[in-house]
Amino acid sequence: MDSESTPQINITIDGVELSVPKGTTILDAAERIGVVIPRYCYHPGLSRPAVCRMCLVEVEGAPKPQPSCVQEVQDGMVVRTGNPEARKARRAAIEFLLVNHPLDCPICDAAGQCELQDYAFETGQLSTRNVEPKVVLGRDHVTPDIVYFADRCVLCTRCVRFMDEIAEDPVLQVINRGYKSFIDTMTDEVFEHPFSMNIVDVCPVGALVNENFLFKPRSWDLDQTASVCPGCSQGCNVTLGAKEDKILRAKPRFNPHVNSYWMCDHGRSAVVNWGAGERIEVPMVRDGDRLAPVDWSRALQALTDAMRGKPGTARAIVSAGASNESLFAVRQLMNAAGFEGGEFRVSTGPESVLKGFPKLRLRADRVPNVRGAELLGFQRADDPIANASGHTGTLFILEDELDDAPEGFGGNAALFVYIGSKMNAAARNAAHVILPSPTFAEAEGTFTNYEGRVQRFGQALRAPGLTRPIWMSGSAVLAQLEAGEQLRTAGVAFAALAAESNEYAGMSYENLGQHGAMVASSAAAVP
Ligand code: SF4
Ligand code: SF4
Ligand code: FES
Repeated sequence: MDSESTPQINITIDGVELSVPKGTTILDAAERIGVVIPRYCYHPGLSRPAVCRMCLVEVEGAPKPQPSCVQEVQDGMVVRTGNPEARKARRAAIEFLLVNHPLDCPICDAAGQCELQDYAFETGQLSTRNVEPKVVLGRDHVTPDIVYFADRCVLCTRCVRFMDEIAEDPVLQVINRGYKSFIDTMTDEVFEHPFSMNIVDVCPVGALVNENFLFKPRSWDLDQTASVCPGCSQGCNVTLGAKEDKILRAKPRFNPHVNSYWMCDHGRSAVVNWGAGERIEVPMVRDGDRLAPVDWSRALQALTDAMRGKPGTARAIVSAGASNESLFAVRQLMNAAGFEGGEFRVSTGPESVLKGFPKLRLRADRVPNVRGAELLGFQRADDPIANASGHTGTLFILEDELDDAPEGFGGNAALFVYIGSKMNAAARNAAHVILPSPTFAEAEGTFTNYEGRVQRFGQALRAPGLTRPIWMSGSAVLAQLEAGEQLRTAGVAFAALAAESNEYAGMSYENLGQHGAMVASSAAAVP
């Protein structure tokens, strides 16, 4: 909205003078100076019906309090958001909403992240004047996984508007009028939609809850980490919620170039289930017929010695679920041995587009880093196992679980290195060195999405056992071979990639920022 051609309007909010572009609402203007006006029906990704009256503020000269979510600023306007007049108006709105609201906070999933709880606390609502019994409306499923607690609903209509304006599938409605109002489908049956869980995210109270998350952690128990969804090549920005080294939920994080305020339901379950199962926790080195668990220095020395013996040119099967930093490390190890080629396979599924924000779609490629793997010289293939089976030189496998590898796979390789998080029969029978690697949630890194946007993800969980990212262990081997430097952090590993690749030239963890940046070959095509 801020553009040089848009006229600026001078206003005063809570005694602070500021200039904002014409057309800005009072609520948006206030946020520029750090004043957050309470709201329920307002959501930045939806239309503004001004139905809840929670955002009332005093505007000097106006006959009554104004809804700041729709009232645009006027030149010379003087606004007060926290004076007795404005607080009294908001108090009345809250008191009205609490007339029939149950005292559910101790058992409500939204406790700790509920706007009704926050505002009731802020306005000092300690008791009720209501002496009548509360109206009880009950609860019901609106989708197979989403439960609607009608008594908690503040009828803000965010869920109705999400389904209407963003999903473009207007299945939800306000049924009845007055104190009998509730939200439901017109047919009284549950609906299914690939982006349905966004209605839980937009609900400002605990009226819509995800049944898979119900009664699990309290919101304040979750460690929150900014990350990127690994569920497909779209690269939606998410916030991971983790407790006791387990991811319990993912919520969308705003990125106007990728996913706006939304994400799909597939991504939410992909995040929670990613990397589940028994893990490899220690490095291993072959000792005759058996694999011996060893410490890192012995594992890295064994790999260095084996590579010094010139076992032959390198082929690889990698994973497009691995980070750019990990893929680059494998590529460098392969270069040291002589790069012969590397491939990866991609699991696919049907696409689903979010019609109201069509740039966001659940992509057919159900892995996050296809583009990143391709930019590092790895090729997508239908059957990389068959192509690598008889290789006699050096064989690197990165995070491909080799579940369908035939008996004897890797047996001809002079050096077979398996870098992964889970054990499999082929690695157990034939690998010479096994290096345990973290999942995307257990290490920092970057993915490059379908259109070439490079985005950072943070570490949400402790990596189990002695697990280490391959950029760390691989660079130690390269340093011992005098073919590179030991890399100490993910940021340094990314800087090493940016220094070697024209596609990533000039990028760093610092300048990728909140919304990522485009690789060189995509930057011109996609702003
Ligand atoms: S269910 Fe939640 S989002 Fe929907 S109208 Fe009620 S309070 Fe608003
Ligand atoms: S569209 Fe893809 S990246 Fe986005 S949430 Fe869904 S699975 Fe994850
Ligand atoms: S947020 Fe302004 S009226 Fe609801």
